[in-house]
Amino acid sequence: MRIILFTGKGGVGKTTLAAATSILAARQGYKTIIISTDAAHSLSDAFELELANSPRQIAPNLFGQEINALEEIEKKWGEIKTYLVALFASQGIDTVEAEELSVFPGMEELFSLMEIRRYHQTGEYDCVIVDCAPTGDTLRLLSAPEITGWYLKHIFPIQRTAAKAVRPVASRVLPFPFPEDNIFEALKNLTGQLAEMKDILEDGRKTSIRMILNPEKMVIKEAQRAYTFFCLFGYAVDLIIVNRVLPASIEDPYFSNWKSVQKSHLRLIEESFAPIPVLEAELRTQEVVGSKLLEEMGKSVYRDADPTALFFSQKPMRVEKEDGRFVLSLHLPFIEKSDLDLTQKGEELFIRVGHLKRNILLPRVLLNREVAGARFDRERLKIVFQ
Ligand SMILES: Nc1ncnc2c1ncn2[C@@H]1O[C@H](COP(=O)(O)OP(=O)(O)OP(=O)(O)O)[C@@H](O)[C@H]1O
Ligand SMILES: [Mg+2]
Repeated sequence: MRIILFTGKGGVGKTTLAAATSILAARQGYKTIIISTDAAHSLSDAFELELANSPRQIAPNLFGQEINALEEIEKKWGEIKTYLVALFASQGIDTVEAEELSVFPGMEELFSLMEIRRYHQTGEYDCVIVDCAPTGDTLRLLSAPEITGWYLKHIFPIQRTAAKAVRPVASRVLPFPFPEDNIFEALKNLTGQLAEMKDILEDGRKTSIRMILNPEKMVIKEAQRAYTFFCLFGYAVDLIIVNRVLPASIEDPYFSNWKSVQKSHLRLIEESFAPIPVLEAELRTQEVVGSKLLEEMGKSVYRDADPTALFFSQKPMRVEKEDGRFVLSLHLPFIEKSDLDLTQKGEELFIRVGHLKRNILLPRVLLNREVAGARFDRERLKIVFQ
């Protein structure tokens, strides 16, 4: 099964290119579903038909779905939320605020992702294409499994078995309601699902991110920041698509300066993301809506290539052995060494790069080894273990 996520700055053409890709994939015989995790859904507009929270067939082999995260949250978080509201209420926080607090930021994205996990489990589709919200939300989306997992582990550290023994005493002495067994059960399920989700997303043989760009300065800057994030989290980016490139056939002098500006930005894009392949999509003479125009656009981008192929499959994070020592190596371009901060705590390694934070659960071979040092080697951060 193949999972492809389309991300990029607001308005660059994510929905359009995700839709175009899905049409080509279906045409090639892959049973494909395109889902959107953006609360401001626009897949319906791109395909010019109404999509909803359950999959609807768009064409032979092609299905579409606009996820309603609120429905999913209610289904999976309902019990825990009831407990949290009671917990907050016992602390004198009034019900309206308690309701707000019981749903944390990033939760909508998280539960949208759970749909990917479901399709991964059922295996009913060959290809899942995800049209993501603009970059900021996507970063939250992709860090949600890790961050939530961490919170759950640290907020509810009491094991369920211990809970049985502690409850009779705890419920008398604690100034807040002690969680019932069903809460622990629900948390355990959720934590398990999060771990699976993370495994699916980090599996570079199945899952990859496609970054959509326009040949504009601000867009490239944002893509560079996002790329650093993806590398830090170990997500694979397999393709860059530059959208709205002015066609070479335009000779109108009005556009001549624009064309040369775009050319230098295209060079910058190649240099920034090499060796990831870069494809181009031209600026069309009209908005790209409806299956016919989308398919045309898809064909002009991918030409004869299989749109579901893994265009690049190098993982940004790997463990190597150098001079008898294990080295955790991360591809982290666009970073100054002074931006880096490392802390190790048991099996966890906290990496802070500028304003980005990541806590890595160390791979098995690195457990019980201490960090001996770190250095930048060209664009890779190399963390050496004792
Ligand atoms: N190459 C192109 N030529 C002409 N119009 C385009 C092109 N690419 C996208 N568009 C049009 O630009 C608009 C925005 O595109 P789209 O919705 O795909 O962007 P987006 O990145 O998904 O935006 P958002 O961040 O709001 O989700 C749409 O009306 C689309 O038809
Ligand atoms: Mg969109």
